[in-house]
Amino acid sequence: MFQAQAIDEPKQSTGRSTVAVVGLGYVGLPTALSLLDAGLSVIGIDVSPERLTAINSGNVDLLPTDLARLRRHLASEQFDRAADYGRIADADTVIVCVPTPVTPQLVPDLTALGAACRTVVEHARRGQTIILTSTTYVGCTRDLLETPLRDRGFEPGFDVHIAFSPERIDPGVADHDPASTPRVLGGITPDSTRAAAMILRRTCPSLHEVSSPEAAEMAKLLENTFRAVNIAFANEMADVAGSLGLSIQEVVEAAATKPYGFMKFMPGPGVGGHCIPCDPHYLLWQLRGRRVAAPLTDAAMTGIALRPRRVVARLAELLADGGHSLRGARVHVVGVAYKPGVADVRESPALEIIAECRAAGAEVSFTDAFVAELHLVDGNLKSTPVDRVEADVVLVHTAHPGEDLTWLAGHPLVLDATYRLDSVPQRVVV
Ligand SMILES: NC(=O)c1ccc[n+]([C@@H]2O[C@H](COP(=O)([O-])OP(=O)(O)OC[C@H]3O[C@@H](n4cnc5c(N)ncnc54)[C@H](O)[C@@H]3O)[C@@H](O)[C@H]2O)c1
Repeated sequence: MFQAQAIDEPKQSTGRSTVAVVGLGYVGLPTALSLLDAGLSVIGIDVSPERLTAINSGNVDLLPTDLARLRRHLASEQFDRAADYGRIADADTVIVCVPTPVTPQLVPDLTALGAACRTVVEHARRGQTIILTSTTYVGCTRDLLETPLRDRGFEPGFDVHIAFSPERIDPGVADHDPASTPRVLGGITPDSTRAAAMILRRTCPSLHEVSSPEAAEMAKLLENTFRAVNIAFANEMADVAGSLGLSIQEVVEAAATKPYGFMKFMPGPGVGGHCIPCDPHYLLWQLRGRRVAAPLTDAAMTGIALRPRRVVARLAELLADGGHSLRGARVHVVGVAYKPGVADVRESPALEIIAECRAAGAEVSFTDAFVAELHLVDGNLKSTPVDRVEADVVLVHTAHPGEDLTWLAGHPLVLDATYRLDSVPQRVVV
């Protein structure tokens, strides 16, 4: 049993305080770098020795500006990297930033988050502030942090502070500035919100405080469900425009001239990464348990899940127009990352498109400036240099910033799933 003691003045408001960042992935690593930039000491903790080795060698998927920051801080004594959870006890603040994916059955996979929170609770000490930043279901902060800390004898909100503050980092986007992106914050008590705000403000001056962790958890789910619904709608409208013989790009550009009440969303080959394909399922899963219907969200997620198959059907249709079958056809995919500017292929629609094409008997190759090799269930596939591409049809899945795609002009059949390749005159869209 711990003796309760109020946290009078968190150290972070005065001297150099130490923050443990648990999970050094796409979000956790840039978070650690921003904290270091702000003059704090950071203990970066990751369960994966491979990830720590990659970070220590400066060989990670980051924007050039972030890579430069990483290389600068690697040599600094203020940046400790460890697989040792015991180091959590040395920190004044703990930021948890581990993955929250879904299972193949589309239910939340809380394995990493549950394990990380258990370890944080085990090593927590009086006076700490613990901030959960992973996207998760409503009530998770209390379930995985507040209740177990109380069971350990702490008095959360008094001798240990707990808050939820979702991440809004946009990896791979050069003009995205996390420091000028407001973030939402909700503590289990006003004092917990205040303690978490003191540390978060060091890297993000604009905080939007809400009354509870639940409101902050739901805000993140709302943001990403909003995106999912709009992407599903944009895809549907692309199909509608196609059936009416219209260009969806032209129609969207026209609609986007409205200065209010419209936000531009473009169609695509589907969605990837660990946000849009996953986060709305945290909400749907929770609502199913409460027998609450969310038919619009449900339909959007179904539409999104079916989109890669629509791309494959379109490939087959285009080949059939030229008297070919997908079986035996050579399909080349340009860009397999789930979005421009990153090497991240998690949940990338390209993976399903490639698998479906291969299952239909097509021979598939790919090119991606950021991805050298794909690890597929039926073997690895290496990126093909563009001057060696021999294909019956080229699918443009992701176009990276500044990528030279002029070579596509030499290919008669180009399916543009990005809906952005105006420079390739012979291309058709999904
Ligand atoms: N990637 C994005 O664009 C983005 C944006 C906003 C929010 N998020 C959310 O942020 C969270 C983290 O996402 P990410 O993309 O950084 O994930 P990630 O997979 O890139 O990184 C997570 C890291 O956590 C480590 N890890 C896993 N289990 C651990 C444990 N028990 N202890 C310590 N380390 C552990 C992994 O080895 C990995 O290095 C997720 O909840 C995600 O939904 C992601």
